[in-house]
Amino acid sequence: MTAPRPLIAGNWKMNGLRASLVEAAAIAEGAAGCAARVAICPPAVLIHLMSELLAGTEVLVGGQDAHWEDAGAFTGDVSARMLADAGAKLVILGHSERRSGWGETDAMVARKVQAALRAGLEPIVCVGEMLEQRNAGQAAPIVTEQVRGSLPAELAGRPFCVAYEPVWAIGTGLTPSIAEIEEMHRAVRATLGEKFGPAAEAVPILYGGSVKPGNAAEILHAAEVGGALVGGASLKAADFLAIVRAL
Ligand code: 13P
Repeated sequence: MTAPRPLIAGNWKMNGLRASLVEAAAIAEGAAGCAARVAICPPAVLIHLMSELLAGTEVLVGGQDAHWEDAGAFTGDVSARMLADAGAKLVILGHSERRSGWGETDAMVARKVQAALRAGLEPIVCVGEMLEQRNAGQAAPIVTEQVRGSLPAELAGRPFCVAYEPVWAIGTGLTPSIAEIEEMHRAVRATLGEKFGPAAEAVPILYGGSVKPGNAAEILHAAEVGGALVGGASLKAADFLAIVRAL
């Protein structure tokens, strides 16, 4: 089976105004012809503008979350269908900031994934352990459980990614060792195999958590790493492009 094309996705989180679209344009210009698929996931209000700006370039636009219903009385929420209508092609689901800040469970994430598939979006499903869990030797069992619970059967045969993001590595400058990253990605791959059979080999498993220009090459070339989900370092085109080019 051929290895999946790696994905380097920038998660802008709650950062960026319309003026930040110049960074997106610079990313698209600099990423032309690169080895990876490249995506930017800006705040929802920028998706439409960014999609129009990047139309005809190789850079995809994605959302950062979506409701599990397609429409309805859910004040303040955005549905996957709306993201797709605004031009998004992908959506991050189950990010640890949603799990810890908004109480999202694996079951909720699985419903969101189903909604993303209905809308024709490619889900990037995030999993990752907290520091106490890693220190208690529970990193692999916790992440295995998250993969089992967050990925519904409907994903079979559909394009999707898993992002392994250890919570303690997000925004801290800390990263696991390469051996630890490989061990966790192998655990995710094995769980995907249990769920989806041999087709699971084609699912990119991204690493996320303090990916920077200085550590990107080593991380991106580690076994079972199929790309990166980049937070802070995706906000400036120069940094993000250095990561994209590290592949
Ligand atoms: P940082 O790259 O800022 O650590 O964020 C990682 C992340 O949460 C991406 O989704």
